Amino acid sequence: MPETLISASEISERVDELAREIDATYRDEGELVLIGVLKGSFIFLADLSRSLTIPHRIEFIAVSSYGDSESTRRTGDVRLLMDIRHPVTDIHVLLVEDIIDTGHTIEYLQRLLAARSPASLRICSLVRKLDRAEIEVEVDYLGFDIPDVWVVGYGLDWAERYRTLPDICVVVPES
Ligand code: IMP
Ligand code: MG
Repeated sequence: MPETLISASEISERVDELAREIDATYRDEGELVLIGVLKGSFIFLADLSRSLTIPHRIEFIAVSSYGDSESTRRTGDVRLLMDIRHPVTDIHVLLVEDIIDTGHTIEYLQRLLAARSPASLRICSLVRKLDRAEIEVEVDYLGFDIPDVWVVGYGLDWAERYRTLPDICVVVPES
Protein backbone atom coordinates (compact mmCIF):
# COMPACT_ATOMS: atom_id res chain seq x y z
CA MET A 1 0.00 0.00 0.00
CA PRO A 2 1.20 3.56 -0.70
CA GLU A 3 2.46 5.51 2.32
CA THR A 4 0.90 8.83 3.33
CA LEU A 5 2.90 11.94 2.45
CA ILE A 6 0.23 14.63 2.92
CA SER A 7 -2.89 13.79 4.92
CA ALA A 8 -6.45 14.59 3.88
CA SER A 9 -6.76 17.15 6.69
CA GLU A 10 -3.53 18.91 5.67
CA ILE A 11 -4.80 19.01 2.08
CA SER A 12 -8.16 20.38 3.14
CA GLU A 13 -6.56 23.15 5.24
CA ARG A 14 -4.25 24.14 2.40
CA VAL A 15 -7.04 24.12 -0.20
CA ASP A 16 -9.01 26.54 1.98
CA GLU A 17 -5.96 28.81 2.32
CA LEU A 18 -5.48 28.82 -1.46
CA ALA A 19 -9.16 29.60 -1.94
CA ARG A 20 -8.89 32.64 0.36
CA GLU A 21 -5.90 33.91 -1.68
CA ILE A 22 -7.75 33.37 -4.94
CA ASP A 23 -10.87 35.04 -3.55
CA ALA A 24 -8.79 38.09 -2.65
CA THR A 25 -7.10 38.31 -6.06
CA TYR A 26 -10.24 38.12 -8.15
CA ARG A 27 -12.81 39.73 -5.85
CA ASP A 28 -13.11 42.98 -7.79
CA GLU A 29 -12.19 41.61 -11.19
CA GLY A 30 -14.40 40.52 -14.05
CA GLU A 31 -15.49 37.06 -15.05
CA LEU A 32 -13.34 34.15 -13.81
CA VAL A 33 -13.06 30.65 -15.21
CA LEU A 34 -11.27 27.77 -13.51
CA ILE A 35 -9.83 25.33 -16.04
CA GLY A 36 -9.15 21.90 -14.57
CA VAL A 37 -6.52 19.76 -16.27
CA LEU A 38 -7.92 16.23 -16.63
CA LYS A 39 -7.81 13.81 -15.22
CA GLY A 40 -5.63 14.36 -12.17
CA SER A 41 -7.08 17.68 -11.02
CA PHE A 42 -10.73 16.64 -10.78
CA ILE A 43 -10.86 16.19 -7.01
CA PHE A 44 -8.68 19.23 -6.26
CA LEU A 45 -10.81 21.35 -8.60
CA ALA A 46 -14.01 20.16 -6.95
CA ASP A 47 -12.77 21.08 -3.46
CA LEU A 48 -11.11 24.35 -4.48
CA SER A 49 -14.16 25.43 -6.44
CA ARG A 50 -16.48 24.80 -3.51
CA SER A 51 -14.18 26.66 -1.12
CA LEU A 52 -14.18 29.82 -3.26
CA THR A 53 -16.71 32.47 -2.36
CA ILE A 54 -16.39 34.45 -5.60
CA PRO A 55 -18.48 33.52 -8.66
CA HIS A 56 -16.65 31.49 -11.29
CA ARG A 57 -17.21 29.12 -14.17
CA ILE A 58 -15.66 25.67 -14.62
CA GLU A 59 -14.06 24.21 -17.72
CA PHE A 60 -11.96 21.14 -18.34
CA ILE A 61 -9.06 20.53 -20.66
CA ALA A 62 -7.27 17.23 -21.31
CA VAL A 63 -3.73 16.63 -22.50
CA SER A 64 -1.72 13.51 -23.05
CA SER A 65 0.57 12.90 -20.14
CA TYR A 66 3.75 10.91 -20.19
CA GLY A 67 2.05 8.47 -17.86
CA ASP A 68 0.56 7.10 -21.07
CA SER A 69 3.82 6.73 -22.92
CA GLU A 70 7.47 6.71 -22.03
CA SER A 71 8.38 8.51 -25.25
CA THR A 72 6.39 11.58 -24.19
CA ARG A 73 8.32 11.60 -20.96
CA ARG A 74 11.60 11.78 -22.80
CA THR A 75 10.70 14.42 -25.34
CA GLY A 76 8.42 16.54 -23.21
CA ASP A 77 5.96 16.31 -26.09
CA VAL A 78 2.45 17.26 -24.97
CA ARG A 79 -0.71 16.75 -27.03
CA LEU A 80 -4.15 18.29 -26.64
CA LEU A 81 -6.80 15.57 -26.19
CA MET A 82 -9.82 17.72 -25.31
CA ASP A 83 -10.22 21.47 -25.50
CA ILE A 84 -12.37 23.77 -23.34
CA ARG A 85 -15.93 24.49 -24.57
CA HIS A 86 -16.08 28.28 -24.51
CA PRO A 87 -13.72 31.08 -25.59
CA VAL A 88 -11.65 32.73 -22.85
CA THR A 89 -10.91 36.02 -24.62
CA ASP A 90 -11.05 38.89 -22.08
CA ILE A 91 -11.92 36.47 -19.28
CA HIS A 92 -9.71 35.79 -16.23
CA VAL A 93 -8.33 32.27 -16.44
CA LEU A 94 -7.03 30.17 -13.55
CA LEU A 95 -5.44 26.89 -14.69
CA VAL A 96 -5.86 24.22 -12.03
CA GLU A 97 -3.28 21.41 -12.17
CA ASP A 98 -2.74 18.45 -9.90
CA ILE A 99 1.04 18.33 -10.15
CA ILE A 100 3.92 20.07 -11.87
CA ASP A 101 6.78 17.69 -12.55
CA THR A 102 9.11 18.63 -15.43
CA GLY A 103 6.92 21.65 -16.27
CA HIS A 104 6.30 20.66 -19.90
CA THR A 105 2.54 20.13 -19.53
CA ILE A 106 1.87 23.43 -17.81
CA GLU A 107 4.12 25.32 -20.21
CA TYR A 108 2.18 23.85 -23.16
CA LEU A 109 -1.16 24.83 -21.62
CA GLN A 110 0.09 28.29 -20.70
CA ARG A 111 1.10 28.91 -24.32
CA LEU A 112 -2.12 27.48 -25.72
CA LEU A 113 -4.33 29.64 -23.53
CA ALA A 114 -2.22 32.81 -23.61
CA ALA A 115 -2.60 32.81 -27.40
CA ARG A 116 -6.37 33.25 -26.89
CA SER A 117 -5.96 36.64 -25.16
CA PRO A 118 -7.54 36.02 -21.74
CA ALA A 119 -7.86 39.03 -19.40
CA SER A 120 -5.27 37.28 -17.21
CA LEU A 121 -3.77 33.81 -16.91
CA ARG A 122 -2.63 32.35 -13.61
CA ILE A 123 -1.61 28.90 -12.45
CA CYS A 124 -2.69 26.94 -9.41
CA SER A 125 -1.10 23.58 -8.69
CA LEU A 126 -1.72 21.31 -5.75
CA VAL A 127 1.83 19.96 -5.72
CA ARG A 128 5.14 20.57 -7.42
CA LYS A 129 8.23 18.39 -7.61
CA LEU A 130 11.00 20.89 -7.12
CA ASP A 131 14.02 18.87 -8.18
CA ARG A 132 12.46 17.74 -11.45
CA ALA A 133 11.90 21.11 -13.16
CA GLU A 134 13.18 21.19 -16.74
CA ILE A 135 11.28 24.37 -17.46
CA GLU A 136 10.89 27.20 -14.98
CA VAL A 137 7.19 27.84 -14.58
CA GLU A 138 5.85 30.55 -12.33
CA VAL A 139 3.12 29.09 -10.13
CA ASP A 140 0.77 31.68 -8.65
CA TYR A 141 -0.93 29.38 -6.13
CA LEU A 142 0.92 26.31 -4.89
CA GLY A 143 -0.31 23.75 -2.38
CA PHE A 144 2.86 21.84 -1.56
CA ASP A 145 6.42 21.29 -2.73
CA ILE A 146 7.38 17.62 -2.63
CA PRO A 147 10.55 15.61 -3.30
CA ASP A 148 11.03 13.51 -6.44
CA VAL A 149 8.71 10.62 -5.62
CA TRP A 150 5.66 9.23 -7.45
CA VAL A 151 2.55 10.36 -5.62
CA VAL A 152 -1.02 9.08 -5.85
CA GLY A 153 -4.36 9.83 -4.27
CA TYR A 154 -6.60 12.91 -4.18
CA GLY A 155 -7.02 12.54 -7.96
CA LEU A 156 -3.47 11.50 -8.79
CA ASP A 157 -2.90 8.05 -10.22
CA TRP A 158 -0.33 5.42 -10.93
CA ALA A 159 -1.49 3.64 -14.12
CA GLU A 160 -5.09 4.70 -13.24
CA ARG A 161 -4.86 3.27 -9.74
CA TYR A 162 -5.23 4.95 -6.34
CA ARG A 163 -6.99 8.14 -7.59
CA THR A 164 -9.61 7.96 -4.86
CA LEU A 165 -7.30 7.66 -1.87
CA PRO A 166 -8.12 10.57 0.47
CA ASP A 167 -4.46 11.31 1.30
CA ILE A 168 -1.58 12.08 -1.06
CA CYS A 169 0.59 8.99 -0.82
CA VAL A 170 3.93 7.79 -2.14
CA VAL A 171 4.06 4.69 -4.29
CA VAL A 172 6.90 2.54 -3.10
CA PRO A 173 8.22 0.44 -6.00
CA GLU A 174 8.20 -3.28 -5.27
CA SER A 175 11.69 -4.70 -5.36
P1 IMP B 1 5.11 17.49 -16.38
O1 IMP B 1 4.69 17.81 -17.78
O2 IMP B 1 6.38 16.70 -16.34
O3 IMP B 1 5.16 18.68 -15.48
O4 IMP B 1 4.08 16.45 -15.83
C1 IMP B 1 2.85 16.79 -15.40
C2 IMP B 1 1.89 15.62 -15.46
O5 IMP B 1 2.53 14.34 -15.22
C3 IMP B 1 0.89 15.76 -14.38
O6 IMP B 1 -0.19 16.53 -14.82
C4 IMP B 1 0.52 14.32 -14.07
O7 IMP B 1 -0.49 13.90 -14.94
C5 IMP B 1 1.76 13.54 -14.36
N1 IMP B 1 2.56 13.27 -13.13
C6 IMP B 1 3.81 13.71 -12.87
N2 IMP B 1 4.25 13.28 -11.68
C7 IMP B 1 3.24 12.55 -11.14
C8 IMP B 1 3.09 11.83 -9.90
O8 IMP B 1 3.96 11.79 -9.02
N3 IMP B 1 1.90 11.21 -9.72
C9 IMP B 1 0.91 11.22 -10.63
N4 IMP B 1 1.00 11.90 -11.80
C10 IMP B 1 2.16 12.55 -12.07
MG1 MG C 1 -2.12 16.48 -14.62
